[in-house]
Amino acid sequence: MRIALYQPDIPQNTGTILRLAACFGLAADVIGPAGFDLSDRALRRAGLDYWEHAALVRHVSWETFLAARLAARGGAGGAGRLVLLTTAAETRHCDFAFHPDDVLLFGRESGGVPSDVHAAADARLRIPLLPGRRSLNLAVACGIAVAEALRQTGGFEAGGVAAGVEPGTTDGGPAGAPPAPG
Ligand SMILES: C[S@@+](CC[C@H](N)C(=O)[O-])C[C@H]1O[C@@H](n2cnc3c(N)ncnc32)[C@H](O)[C@@H]1O
Repeated sequence: MRIALYQPDIPQNTGTILRLAACFGLAADVIGPAGFDLSDRALRRAGLDYWEHAALVRHVSWETFLAARLAARGGAGGAGRLVLLTTAAETRHCDFAFHPDDVLLFGRESGGVPSDVHAAADARLRIPLLPGRRSLNLAVACGIAVAEALRQTGGFEAGGVAAGVEPGTTDGGPAGAPPAPG
């Protein structure tokens, strides 16, 4: 299972989510451009807890993220379903059958995801809220969705889903692509 963040704006949320990923042995994709500097140096300087223990792949753009998924589909690793968490969904996260190789995709704090990203998802899920409440904090929504997905797929019993997930920060996309700016 992977966590993917679409153009995150707030470093503290990304830091909290990378810590979550590190603690449960999940890989994380951060899809740029982000609203802050994503370089190793900046992450270290920001003192984000645990990021060095996370398996983080930085993607320059949505397009390079999709290209990496296509390449993985052709390879042995495969690429799981893209499951978008959004307030604009019919299906509740707790009514959905997760797979161990799903990629849980979250939108940016300021505006969620654009319509093309919405359309590219294999499934769209919402965490039900009381009427009149707009949305959860990104990191809280991520924790709730990941917990349900791991509960369903036996991720907690397995001590996480970490097989083959090694800590480290890499840049996704075509060979020679420049590091993700911001
Ligand atoms: C602060 S919210 C974004 C709010 C934005 N105005 C919107 O309408 O999408 C940031 C992200 O957290 C996730 N999120 C927050 N609340 C959610 C909920 N109730 N159900 C599913 N996802 C949620 C979504 O991925 C969302 O894009």
